Amino acid sequence: MRKKLIAGNWKLFNNAYETESLINKLIDLRAAEMGADVVVAPPFTSLHAAHRAAGRSGIELAGQDVFWEEKGAFTGEIAPGMLLDAGCKWVIIGHSERRQYFGETDETVNRKINAALKAGLKPIVCVGETLRERESDQTTAVIGKQLEGGFAGIAAGMFEKITVAYEPVWAIGTGKTATGRQAQEVHAFIRGWLGKKHGGATAQIVRILYGGSVKSSNAAELMALPDIDGALVGGASLIADDFSAIIRLSAKTGK
Ligand code: PGA
Repeated sequence: MRKKLIAGNWKLFNNAYETESLINKLIDLRAAEMGADVVVAPPFTSLHAAHRAAGRSGIELAGQDVFWEEKGAFTGEIAPGMLLDAGCKWVIIGHSERRQYFGETDETVNRKINAALKAGLKPIVCVGETLRERESDQTTAVIGKQLEGGFAGIAAGMFEKITVAYEPVWAIGTGKTATGRQAQEVHAFIRGWLGKKHGGATAQIVRILYGGSVKSSNAAELMALPDIDGALVGGASLIADDFSAIIRLSAKTGK
């Protein structure tokens, strides 16, 4: 059985003060004691405040991105070791907003995954199709390509550290959620791909999160599906009550 993982992607929200207050609210709500693993990804500049506030609450931290070099003349970048130093155990890699606005490719995703694993960070690797790709029946082809490129050369043994997040681009921040059937279909495809590449045992241990307008009103239905092992939550993760409701509902759907 795979324990549920609920990750909050805060994107470009919450300065240090707001971060501390949101984490304190999550602690008051006992978010990390509900039976699911809980991770939040504040902006880089708020990580220290988040780490201090999270203390021993069980709330873990992720970077929203990472660079593949440890040091050097790379203005504006953040190294895997710096994320560790700021208290992160996780890092989101290949989010569709990085792919869409900041030139992220399957190749850079692959370099980042390698660097994160080498440093001891656990990557949450995002894949997903656009609306146009879905409407032209390209969904599995697009996701297959992202998996092949992103995970090129990654050994089977590494997958115990890796989480995949399926986030249909058309469902992110739009209020449109994939139906349970649409999501389960793609999650099963991803698990099938892992099985073909790295064997059934590996495929069974990897958690595959769903992301895209997850809210307390749809979390229970989605999280109960056989291949959905948690959620990557954007908007609703900025509100402590909503995020903890999603965690509570997900933790209940043990399967
Ligand atoms: P959303 O974002 O929940 O606001 O749709 C999800 C994400 O981008 O990870």
